Amino acid sequence: MPRSCRDAVGQEQVGEIRHDRSGISFRPGLEGVPVTQSAICDIDGLQGRLAYRGYPIAELSAHSSFLETTYLLIWGDLPSPQQLRDFEAEVQMHRRVSFRVRDMMKCFPASGHPMDALQSSAASLGLFYSRRAIDDPKYVYNAVVRLIAKIPTMVAAFKLIRKGQDPIQPRDDLAYSANFLYMLTEREPDPLAARVLDRCLILHAEHSLNASTFSARVTASTLTDPYAVVASAVGTLAGPLHGGANEDVLAMLEEIGSPEHAGDYLDEAIASKRKVMGFGHREYRVKDPRAVILQGLAEELFARFGTDEMYDVAKALEQAAATRLGPKGIYPNVDFYSGLVYRKLGIPRDLFTPVFAISRVAGWLAHWREQLGANRIFRPSQIYTGPQNRTWIPSDERFSSTGA
Ligand code: CMC
Repeated sequence: MPRSCRDAVGQEQVGEIRHDRSGISFRPGLEGVPVTQSAICDIDGLQGRLAYRGYPIAELSAHSSFLETTYLLIWGDLPSPQQLRDFEAEVQMHRRVSFRVRDMMKCFPASGHPMDALQSSAASLGLFYSRRAIDDPKYVYNAVVRLIAKIPTMVAAFKLIRKGQDPIQPRDDLAYSANFLYMLTEREPDPLAARVLDRCLILHAEHSLNASTFSARVTASTLTDPYAVVASAVGTLAGPLHGGANEDVLAMLEEIGSPEHAGDYLDEAIASKRKVMGFGHREYRVKDPRAVILQGLAEELFARFGTDEMYDVAKALEQAAATRLGPKGIYPNVDFYSGLVYRKLGIPRDLFTPVFAISRVAGWLAHWREQLGANRIFRPSQIYTGPQNRTWIPSDERFSSTGA
C-alpha cells in the first residue's frame, strides 16, 4: 500500500494517488518500484540474506579481500590469481593524488565536513582525467582503478590537511586497508585491525539500489564521466538517513549514557516519533546480516584491544528495541555497530561516512558499468500539485491585488 504524502499546501493525502495520464500509482520514495534490472546484488529482506554476484556476504567477508570483492562486483566473477595480482598492483600504483588535488584541499575550510571535501575532490578527478571515453574498456578499467585507489588517499589527506599538516604518502609495502589506516593514524596498523577494516569494506561495498547507488545510476544514465557519477553518489551518501547515520549512532549511544537508560530513551523517541539511529531499513524486516557480522567484528576488536563502554549501551538498546520496534520489523542496520568498530580502529567520528564511501565506490562503479550496458536515461514523472492558469500581475499591483 502506498504511504500517505503531503500535497502542495502541506495537507496530508492518504490512499492511492495515480498519475492522471499513465494511471500509474504514486509511490513516495519509489518504495518497491523496480527501476532497473541488475545482476550485482541480491537482498532477501525477510530472511536477512545478502549476496554479491551470488556469493553470500558472510562467505565473502570471511574469506575474500576488499579488492577481490571489488573485482567481483565490477566485473561479475572472482578474479584469477593473476587478474587479482594485476588489479592489486594497478591500484597500488595509482594511490597517490596529484599535488594539485592536495593544494585544492588545502583551500577547503578546516571546519568543513570530510564528506563535502570528498565529494569535491572526487569530482575534481574528472578535471585531471577528462577524456570521457566510456565506450573504451581501457578508459573504464583505468577509471575504476583510479577511483578505488585514490579515494582512501583523499579521505586520509583531508584528515591531516584540516589540522594544518601535510598528508602522509601511501606506503607501497602495505596492502589496501593497512595502507589506509597507516595514512590515517600515522602508524603501521596491527594486522588484526587492518583485516577488520578490510572486512568492513567488504560488508559496505554494495547494497543494491540504495539512495546513493540510485543517484550513481541516474548520473551514469546521462553518459557523464565516472568521477561525476561517484561525486553525486558521495553527496547522497552523506545524509543522516543514509550513510551519515553511523556518526549519529555514537552520539545517540553517548546521549543514552548507560545501559539502564536504554528503555526510557527508546520510549521517549518512539513517543515523540523520533527515528532511532542505526535501526530500520527499507529492505530488511529482520536484523541486517551486515550488523550481525559487524557486531562479531566489534567483539573481536574489544577482546584484543579492550572494550568500549558504549558497546553495553548498544546491546541494551538492541534488546530494548526488540519488543518495542521489532514487531514493526525494525532492527539494527549496518550503521548500528559500524561506528563502534571504526572508533576502536582509531578512525575519527566524522570520517565514518567517508570510510563507508571508500567501500561503496565499488558498488557505485559496478552499477555505473551495468547502467552503461543497457542505458536509458532516467526521467521519471511527477504528479503536479501546484496552482493552474494564474495571470501575471505587474509587481506594483501585486500586494493590492492580494489585499495585503
Ligand atoms: N526508529 C523508529 N521508528 C522507525 C525507524 C527508526 N529507526 N525506522 C522506521 N521507523 C518507523 C517509522 O516511524 C514508521 O512508522 P509509522 O508507520 O508508524 O509512521 C515506519 O517505521 C516506517 O518508516 P519509514 O521511515 O517510512 O521507513 P523507510 O523505509 O522510508 O525508512 C530508513 C528506512 C532507513 C530511512 C529508516 O528506517 C530510518 O530513518 N532509520 C534511521 C536512520 C538510519 O539508521 N539510516 C541508515 C540506513 S541503513 C544504511 C544506509 O542506507 O546507508
